[in-house]
Amino acid sequence: MKPIFLIGFMGSGKSTIGKALSERYNLSFVDLDDYIVKKQGMEITKIFEQFGEDKFRELEHEALNEVLLKNIIATGGGIVEQKENVSLMKEIGTIIYLHATFAEIDHRLKGDQTRPLWLNSNLKEKQQLYARRNTLYRSCADYIISTDQQTIHEIITNIMDKVTLNKSY
Ligand code: S3P
Repeated sequence: MKPIFLIGFMGSGKSTIGKALSERYNLSFVDLDDYIVKKQGMEITKIFEQFGEDKFRELEHEALNEVLLKNIIATGGGIVEQKENVSLMKEIGTIIYLHATFAEIDHRLKGDQTRPLWLNSNLKEKQQLYARRNTLYRSCADYIISTDQQTIHEIITNIMDKVTLNKSY
């Protein structure tokens, strides 16, 4: 099957849904952030702190290229910041945007210490980032799935229905 790329804002559930999908349908799975952390031997916050966002984006791009044989790939929220990443995902896989409203994301990420871009932004900056990313996610997604009111089971069933209908499976 073509790889399924889960995209969406920080806290939209990409890792949780990816893991559940892989377990339910017996598919291989990788979480791109975890992959980067293992490969670099360094937490994401430390990478941002020591080397900055640009370096993180380079590592992210490199990592994406290394995991393309997996069935399910949970990407980081900023994967769409680089056009090359979007082209690659579009070319070889199916892109699923897991959408959550700003209010829901804000609620889920309260107290989160692991996401530097969220942690170091004020409300206005968070809203702007959300709005800009929302446009980017929508423009490249094959399917958009709302996660706010759905159970994990409903979401993964929904994703598989769409992917199999599309004859990509
Ligand atoms: C980022 C999202 C994070 C992680 C990094 C940058 C972003 O991943 O890659 O902190 O730019 O939105 P999650 O979406 O899994 O939180």
